[in-house]
Amino acid sequence: MPKKKSILDFYEMKKRGEKVVWITAYDAPTAACAEAAGVDMLLVGDSLGMCVYGYPSTIPVTMEMCIRHTEAVRRAAPNTFVIGDMPFMSYQTTTADAVYNAGRFLKEAGADAIKLEGGVRVADKIKAIVEAGIVVFGHIGLTPQSSGQLGGFKAQGRTLETAKLMLQDALAVQEAGAHALLVEAVAPEVTKLIHERLRIPVYGIGAGPHCDGQLLIVSDLLGIFEAFTPKFVKKYANLAEEMKKAFAQYAEEVRNGTFPGPEHVYPMLPGEAEKLSEL
Ligand code: KIV
Repeated sequence: MPKKKSILDFYEMKKRGEKVVWITAYDAPTAACAEAAGVDMLLVGDSLGMCVYGYPSTIPVTMEMCIRHTEAVRRAAPNTFVIGDMPFMSYQTTTADAVYNAGRFLKEAGADAIKLEGGVRVADKIKAIVEAGIVVFGHIGLTPQSSGQLGGFKAQGRTLETAKLMLQDALAVQEAGAHALLVEAVAPEVTKLIHERLRIPVYGIGAGPHCDGQLLIVSDLLGIFEAFTPKFVKKYANLAEEMKKAFAQYAEEVRNGTFPGPEHVYPMLPGEAEKLSEL
């Protein structure tokens, strides 16, 4: 079993040009499989609002949901770097709220780091959380919690003007003391520039190949989430189809009486069944 990585290991991987493999996980069985497969990092993303709870966005997600799911992932993947994701309104209000809620991920759920969305406008929150001794991952580009302001789940940095904003956000995250940056759905040319300009590791989701590692949402990667599939997703399995096939076969076998078979029951002990007539 390889030893659990720390943020220093991720800095070393960046120096060596070794890519970080990062996925989201929301539950114990998935986290255990990811750890067994050697995934480097797990994000317990607030995407759980859509992927697990069926909400249309991440906005309804609460701290309690995030803490419970992060705890489950931590228990099942004790040797993997786990990042808790700060949900909407857990850090936007005040720096005190931001530090308190970030701390809950470490104290109550055993997370190794937290992630929060935004650049320039959350720099004061990032600084305060870092000063509390917590490892912070920034997140810029398509930031789902502010997708209303972005006009939907839209790619960012596709014009010179918005590329400039992306670079300003990236630099603000680094200057605030964040330990790493996630860039989501940003034009690859802009991600390349950000990667060249920053000292801290830059990871991407839908931001092209010029980063220190890649993140995918587990439900997209496994083909479980069918509501929509962003262009940047590669499905490595089609579990939704497999699940539907399995459920349909189960239904057929229950209805035609072939399930359960003799191998699926706990018969009475030898000689006991004969005595049932005494009852
Ligand atoms: O919640 C999440 O999974 C995320 C990713 C979309 C980056 O923040």
